[in-house]
Amino acid sequence: MNDHPTKLPKAAIQSRILHGKRALVIGIANEQSIAYGCARVFRELGADLAVTYLNEKARPYVEPLAKELGAPIFVPCDVAQSGQLEAVFQQIRETWGSLDIALHSIAFAPKEDLQGRLLDSSGEGSRWRWTSPATPSSAWRDSPSP
Ligand SMILES: NC(=O)c1ccc[n+]([C@@H]2O[C@H](COP(=O)([O-])OP(=O)(O)OC[C@H]3O[C@@H](n4cnc5c(N)ncnc54)[C@H](O)[C@@H]3O)[C@@H](O)[C@H]2O)c1
Repeated sequence: MNDHPTKLPKAAIQSRILHGKRALVIGIANEQSIAYGCARVFRELGADLAVTYLNEKARPYVEPLAKELGAPIFVPCDVAQSGQLEAVFQQIRETWGSLDIALHSIAFAPKEDLQGRLLDSSGEGSRWRWTSPATPSSAWRDSPSP
């Protein structure tokens, strides 16, 4: 783990309450990502992790973190690309058989929409904000839950 320990109570860490559980974490971009904080806590509590990275540009930033977390599954996943989430679940099926925990902390907005008011967002920005194309429900429904 990195130099900034999570603030979990000692008793929680000792409980290893997630020992034997398998957790998928989508949304790590760097050490500041909420998903990274969640992944570290899952790991400290004993879970095994599958970590994804957005694309080849993101990979060099995420890979060292996935290694530090000891993630046996490290695969690309852009949920806006058809089939990529399904491919992640397929990999999990082949490696683990089933999945206990899935967490995503995906955030995206077109660059121009980061400058103005929420109400002035473009159509594309609103589509991302309100309809969450990033989480196709059919893919989640077909995930390898136990
Ligand atoms: N960091 C904070 O302190 C904080 C506080 C409150 C709320 N939030 C909100 O929480 C959310 C996450 O914040 P964060 O700081 O972790 O951001 P982040 O930029 O670290 O993480 C967002 C992640 O979404 C991923 N992503 C974007 N498009 C994707 C796609 N198509 N497929 C798969 N992954 C995709 C990015 O690769 C990135 O890893 C944001 O909505 C943010 O506004 C953050």
